[in-house]
Amino acid sequence: MKALEGIKILDFTHVQSGPTCTQLLGWFGADVIKVERPGVGDATRKQLIDVPDADSLYFTMLNHNKRSIELNSKNETGKEVLTRLIEECDVLVENFAPGALDRMGFTWERIQEINPKLIMASIKGFGPGKYEDCKVYENVAQCAGGSASTTGFLDGPPLVTGAQIGDSGTGLHLCLGIVTALFQREKTGRGQKVSCAMQDSVLNLARVKLRDQQRLAVGPLKEYSQFGEGVPFGDATPRAGNDSGGGQPGRILKCKGWEQDPNAYTYFIVQAAVWEKVCDVIGKPEWKTREGYAKPPERLDKLNEIFAAVEDWTKTKTKYEVMEICNPLDIPVGPILSMKEISEDEGLFATGTMVKVDHPERGEYLSVGCPIKLSDSEVDVVRSPLLGEHTHEVLSDVLGYSGDDLKRVIDSGAVGEVKA
Ligand code: COA
Repeated sequence: MKALEGIKILDFTHVQSGPTCTQLLGWFGADVIKVERPGVGDATRKQLIDVPDADSLYFTMLNHNKRSIELNSKNETGKEVLTRLIEECDVLVENFAPGALDRMGFTWERIQEINPKLIMASIKGFGPGKYEDCKVYENVAQCAGGSASTTGFLDGPPLVTGAQIGDSGTGLHLCLGIVTALFQREKTGRGQKVSCAMQDSVLNLARVKLRDQQRLAVGPLKEYSQFGEGVPFGDATPRAGNDSGGGQPGRILKCKGWEQDPNAYTYFIVQAAVWEKVCDVIGKPEWKTREGYAKPPERLDKLNEIFAAVEDWTKTKTKYEVMEICNPLDIPVGPILSMKEISEDEGLFATGTMVKVDHPERGEYLSVGCPIKLSDSEVDVVRSPLLGEHTHEVLSDVLGYSGDDLKRVIDSGAVGEVKA
């Protein structure tokens, strides 16, 4: 048995943010029915194509464990089928541009009339307010959520991060909202609306930077490199380069081979609790007791000197050797792993975090599996559906259309080309 077995999801999502949420629900065992425009489908199916005539990796990696039904939700018969889906499903998830669902005729009020138990979950770029009508993509959310202004180096422009905190980050937030609403429905019997704005989700993930914004009012941020370098602080949380976001100073340092390998680096944290071990490892035992070095606050204006000494040592070791030496000593370090290294990491395959998936159009590909492990609800990663692969199955098995009625729906043109 899977955790969400028996829960039906009307998946009206597209691109990345919504699909990451419904993919998780599918991994937890829900029956996810993805509704796509006939003949077109989710735009990502044909974006960043690497294998001609096959669904892209962009699509396949975000849409595992789903069924696909083609449905024109603006056509009269299409609206009838959508209404039946709303009646049958437990959750509707969507991330259309603001107002798109209303324009189709499916306002929240109308949806509640059709099925008062339905949970309707939406992602928009911004919450209510002056920007609520904007269309929003990943990097816009990273910028508007405060993340970009605090990412990068002090002497450079704001930077977006590679991790998709705007899209996938919001999908995760929405998923939590949905299962919480399902839990509440157990007691109340009622559905509810769950909303996540991408700006809010990014801000939530960047909350330590708002912490620093307030700390700035009472003095400089002493753990930031710029403090030790004597660079004055302005009135907003600055870009902190690779400084650790917490109370323990940390940096990215070069390792053996850095001249050729762009990822021969390690993250190194000079944690107060293991300072003496750090001094021994890097060959600076005198720093253990020397005034100005022995106590954490005294070291804050010497971080450049200290990390330069640590780097002199890390440059003599590979990033893996640094890990092997420091780990047993409880010195927190981490190799900078490339996507190539991750895609060859047997340990990640063993836990199901990385998976190989077979696909009829493109053959075998790699994907990230479910990063959340439930001991009593195992995840089987099932390939993404072809466009409209389950239209007939959903119409007949889920919605109960049969005989002349089924023929009427198919002939209406609302559900694309249907293969029985
Ligand atoms: N049948 C008929 N029409 C359909 C349909 C279907 N099955 N599915 C979608 N459509 C229509 C929509 O109703 C809409 O029509 P309208 O403009 O007449 O109302 C149209 O397709 C386009 O939808 P839209 O959501 O506006 O897509 P877009 O490609 O223009 O914009 C986004 C894409 C992502 C910018 C936008 O959807 C958005 O801002 N979403 C919310 C934030 C978000 O999730 N962003 C991150 C995405 S990773």
